[in-house]
Amino acid sequence: MSEDDYLPGLEGVPATRSNISDIDGEKGILAYRGYPIEQLAEYSNFEETVLLLLKGELPSKDELSRFRERMGRYRRVKFNVREMMKHFPPTGHPMEMLQTAVSSLGLFYPDKTCLTGSELCNDLDYIRNMTVRIIARIPVIVAMWYHIRRGYDPIEPRNDLTVAENFLYMLHGKEPDPEYARIFDMCLVLHAEHTINASTFSVLVSGSTLASPYGVISAAIGTLSGPLHGGANEKVVEMLEEIGSPANVKPWLDKQLAKKAKIWGFGHREYSVKDPRATILQTYMEKLAKGRGGKNSQLFETALALEELANDRLGERGIYANVDYYSGILYSEMGIPTDHFTPVFAISRAAGWLAHWREQLKDNRIFRPTQIYSGPELREYVPMSYR
Ligand code: COA
Repeated sequence: MSEDDYLPGLEGVPATRSNISDIDGEKGILAYRGYPIEQLAEYSNFEETVLLLLKGELPSKDELSRFRERMGRYRRVKFNVREMMKHFPPTGHPMEMLQTAVSSLGLFYPDKTCLTGSELCNDLDYIRNMTVRIIARIPVIVAMWYHIRRGYDPIEPRNDLTVAENFLYMLHGKEPDPEYARIFDMCLVLHAEHTINASTFSVLVSGSTLASPYGVISAAIGTLSGPLHGGANEKVVEMLEEIGSPANVKPWLDKQLAKKAKIWGFGHREYSVKDPRATILQTYMEKLAKGRGGKNSQLFETALALEELANDRLGERGIYANVDYYSGILYSEMGIPTDHFTPVFAISRAAGWLAHWREQLKDNRIFRPTQIYSGPELREYVPMSYR
């Protein structure tokens, strides 16, 4: 094994065989199970997309309604989960809350676990059950926390609503505006899956040890939280607020680039063009503004100005806006607090994570890469009195 074999960040190294999603980073194409993301954003919905990712094909009408009914049924979480959450510090980040709460579900819902062997992990009924339970409960936990951290009891979930509608309902205590619910649903579709990104890779690694699905998904939530990954959506809005207005964009960008700082929501390992999901999200922001008589929010105006200038400066290096650039601006419009943006990402990405978990288990081998050792040669232990 030589230095030349080492590829930092495993850039370009295939970690698995997968038929779930695909990216053409030069053409800016993303497809789930062969369906272009633009078509899914326009015509599909989150529940249908979850089934597509998990099963490989678009569901029939009956399958979809059975799945919706099950997702509604599994929304309620045990009262002790809520009691536990009441003891979390209200100042803690919602991603840490979510990671803790999801890992605790393994305690509250003890089930057959994968620890006993791969046969069980190939039990697709078991996998389907766990998948529904986790995807149904993550949004409920996030919405519960919105109220619990303010000292209020959470709003009970409703099983007659879609995932997107129920989340906005539990957050705001009233049925959501249908346009916002549709846009939020579309955001969930866009974020549901994205090949072997860092958090999905963590699913493959932890899944390959036959860890329980709650352990696997809580590891992925922790991985998603970083600002180089899902945490970027929160950073983008903080960055735009710091810039303040389009007039401040140029001096701000000059300063950032001079000190080689990252522009949040820009750049991607896989894309050398603009992320197709960013284009879709931008279009929806424009539609919302049109509905308001063409008035863009200050945040959106600042984002557009920054993107235009950043394209001039970074575009030739293949650094363009990614999915996190416009998502937070849309979420702000819907009254979702900034520190809930990354948990919202997790609500949706849980679908892709669980599809990959299942794929990993179907043909499992534990991940155990190697390293290029750069430490000291073998040496004698030095007793304390000689140091
Ligand atoms: N702003 C400014 N420069 C950037 C940049 C950004 N957002 N993203 C990449 N670059 C530059 C790096 O500084 C580096 O320059 P150098 O070669 O002069 O050192 C070069 O492009 C390669 O960047 P690197 O971080 O090594 O690329 P990567 O493939 O390892 O990382 C990201 C990809 C996404 C982590 C990276 O683009 C990034 O940090 N983006 C900002 C965070 C973000 O939006 N994350 C969400 C991704 S969906």
